[in-house]
Amino acid sequence: MDSPSAQPVPQDPPQQRRSAPQRRVAITAACLGLVVVVAVVDYLTGVDLSVSLLYLVPVCWCSWSAGRRAGVLVAAASAEAWLTAVLLDGAPIQHPWVLVCNTLTLGGIFTLVATLMATLQGTQAVLEAKVVTRTAKLGREVAERRWAEAQLRQAHAELQRTQMQLIEAAKMEAVGRLAAGVAHEVKNPLMTLGMGTDYFLQRRASSSDEATLLQDMKDAVHRATGIIDLMLDFSKPRPLRLAPEDLNAIAESALGLLRLQLLKQHIEVRRLLDPALPQLPLDRTRIEHVLVNLFTNAVQAMPEGGTLTVRSAFQQAAGTDDSPAVILEVEDSGPGIPHEHLPKVFEPFYTTKPPGQGTGLGLAIVHRILQIHGGSIALGNRPDGGARATLTFNLHPQPPPP
Ligand SMILES: Nc1ncnc2c1ncn2[C@@H]1O[C@H](COP(=O)(O)OP(=O)(O)OP(=O)(O)O)[C@@H](O)[C@H]1O
Ligand SMILES: [Mg+2]
Repeated sequence: MDSPSAQPVPQDPPQQRRSAPQRRVAITAACLGLVVVVAVVDYLTGVDLSVSLLYLVPVCWCSWSAGRRAGVLVAAASAEAWLTAVLLDGAPIQHPWVLVCNTLTLGGIFTLVATLMATLQGTQAVLEAKVVTRTAKLGREVAERRWAEAQLRQAHAELQRTQMQLIEAAKMEAVGRLAAGVAHEVKNPLMTLGMGTDYFLQRRASSSDEATLLQDMKDAVHRATGIIDLMLDFSKPRPLRLAPEDLNAIAESALGLLRLQLLKQHIEVRRLLDPALPQLPLDRTRIEHVLVNLFTNAVQAMPEGGTLTVRSAFQQAAGTDDSPAVILEVEDSGPGIPHEHLPKVFEPFYTTKPPGQGTGLGLAIVHRILQIHGGSIALGNRPDGGARATLTFNLHPQPPPP
């Protein structure tokens, strides 16, 4: 993730900066005009003190808005205008020096006011600049803190994911060790039992009950051997035999394997297969195994019949890091998966089926097979009922994890 970029302190645009001196000149000119107006009023009212104080308006305005130098200029012009108004007024002057003193005093006061106003304005501008800088700094700090928080949250989520993967890996390792031990201890006796039941089945059984019992025993041995093979394949999958394959064709052949079951349970199959799918590097037997597992789960979820939908599509940005991928969805119209079961369905040996009907290895193996293909599976519920499994096959899969 990119670090938050430092925010520049806001500056006036160049056009605004260029026009500042012109603005000062305009304000000074306006203030000088105002001085003339005050002088005329002063003259007409007979140079009254209260009117003379009006000179402070252009002085204050100019020094506040156009700076100290312009303010002093307007102050001098005001004193000059006052003197002119007095001279034009024609009132008797006691002594010329008094007039000079009055003019200088008035000019001094105006200049002092102008300097004070300009200093005040300067201080305010400095304070404003400080506020702007501090606000910008605070904004940067808040952005940096937010970014750090987001990083922390991401790291935490990553850590949780890694922890889950470690737990999953530990479970798989435990299953692997168990499988190896069970295979070693149980597979040979099972073979002996299997051969024994075969032998007795080939000989004529003394009664039909005996024949049924022998057949049940043979089925049980066959099932137990199958579970051990599944566990072995799950813990130490044999290397993939990849070849360019058409996923639609594999889906068709998996559906073919379940044809009788689908007919028996009155399940309608909807095929929404994209005919323009690109070929994918797949181990055909194992992907067929994946699809048979998913179709079987769907069939088992619809004992009273329903609809099984198989949909495939090519998507430009559905894969890892938004890479192109082929999506295959398997949907059923069964009851769906209860929300609280969803996080556990990929755990080895997690099943909600009655004993003897499910090992709970189906989805764990599906997940493993997709993982070693560099793909993924997501299981959820459709908004209008039933479960949906979404398989994602990257067009250019990354090397599978060890
Ligand atoms: N299509 C589905 N509809 C409803 N529940 C499902 C569906 N697919 C899976 N599940 C739930 O997920 C659980 C785990 O499925 P999984 O295929 O791993 O094992 P299983 O079907 O119980 O046994 P196995 O596949 O080994 O015979 C199931 O027991 C079931 O509760
Ligand atoms: Mg299953």
